[in-house]
Amino acid sequence: MGSLESPKRIALITGAAQGIGRSIAFRLAEDGLNVAVNDLPSKLAELEAVVEEIKSSTGGQAIAVTGDVSREGDVKAMVTSVVGKLGGLDVMVANAGITEFRSLVDLSVEEWDRNMAINGRGVMLCYKHAAKQMIEQGRGGRIIGACSQAGKQGIPSLPAYAASKFAVRGLTQCAALELAPHKITVNAYAPGAIISTNIGEQLDQERARLNMPMNIPMAQPEVIASLVSYIAKLESYFITGQTISANGGTHCD
Ligand SMILES: NC(=O)c1ccc[n+]([C@@H]2O[C@H](COP(=O)([O-])OP(=O)(O)OC[C@H]3O[C@@H](n4cnc5c(N)ncnc54)[C@H](O)[C@@H]3O)[C@@H](O)[C@H]2O)c1
Repeated sequence: MGSLESPKRIALITGAAQGIGRSIAFRLAEDGLNVAVNDLPSKLAELEAVVEEIKSSTGGQAIAVTGDVSREGDVKAMVTSVVGKLGGLDVMVANAGITEFRSLVDLSVEEWDRNMAINGRGVMLCYKHAAKQMIEQGRGGRIIGACSQAGKQGIPSLPAYAASKFAVRGLTQCAALELAPHKITVNAYAPGAIISTNIGEQLDQERARLNMPMNIPMAQPEVIASLVSYIAKLESYFITGQTISANGGTHCD
C-alpha cells in the first residue's frame, strides 16, 4: 500500500522551544506530520532537544530552524530551509509571542514597538511567506496564528500585548478571505490562562501583584495543541477566518 499513501504533510511551528509551541509540535508529529520547529538562535539547545524527542517518540522527521520572526529575512530563510529539507510546507503555526505587563501610563514606545514587532509583524511575516509557498505548491494549506483572550477583551496592564493580539484577529480575517481561492484556511487560537509556560508564570505573578482573582480556570498547553491539531487537519476545511477561544469559559464571544 506504500505507493498509494499520500506523502506526509509538513508543518512549521514558531516559538516551539517551550510552552504551547513545543506542545503543538509534539501533537502535530503524533498526528503524522513531519515538523520543523523554530525559536530564537539563543534557544537552539532546547530546540534540538525537542527535535530529538519528537524523532525518537514518533519516528517522524523533525528539524530545527532558528530565526527571529520579527525579521522578514529570517522568516523567508526559515520557510526556504523547511521546503529544502522537508520538501514543502502545508501547515504554518505562527505561535511565537511575548508578553510584557506595563500600565498604559508607564508604557514606553520601545515596549509598544517590541510587542507589535513580535506578536503582530512576526505573525504577519509567517502568514505571508507561508502563503506564498502554499500558493506556489498549489495543494492548499493551513495557516494558524497565536491570538489570546487579550485579543478579544482588554486586560489591565496589557495594552501593548492586547493591541498586538487584536491585530492578529484582523490579519487572520483578511488573510482567510484572500487565500480561500487557493484552498488555504487561516485561523487563530485565543487561549485563556495556560500554565507550564513562561507567559503563564508572568500572568500569575502579575495577578498576585494586582490582587486579581487567582481562582480562574487554567489549563496545560496540550488543550491548545489539540485545538491546533484539529484546525490543521484536512477535514477542518470549512473553518476559516476564525479566532477560536479556549479559555474555560472566562470570556464568551
Ligand atoms: N500561556 C498563556 O497563558 C497564553 C495565553 C494567551 C496567548 N498565549 C500566546 O501563545 C503563544 C505561546 O505562548 P507561551 O505561553 O507558550 O509562551 P512562552 O514564553 O512559554 O514561549 C514562547 C516562545 O516564543 C519564543 N519567541 C519569542 N520571541 C520570538 C521571536 N522573535 N522569534 C522566534 N521565537 C520567539 C520564545 O523564545 C519562547 O520559546 C504566544 O503567542 C502567546 O502570546 C499564551
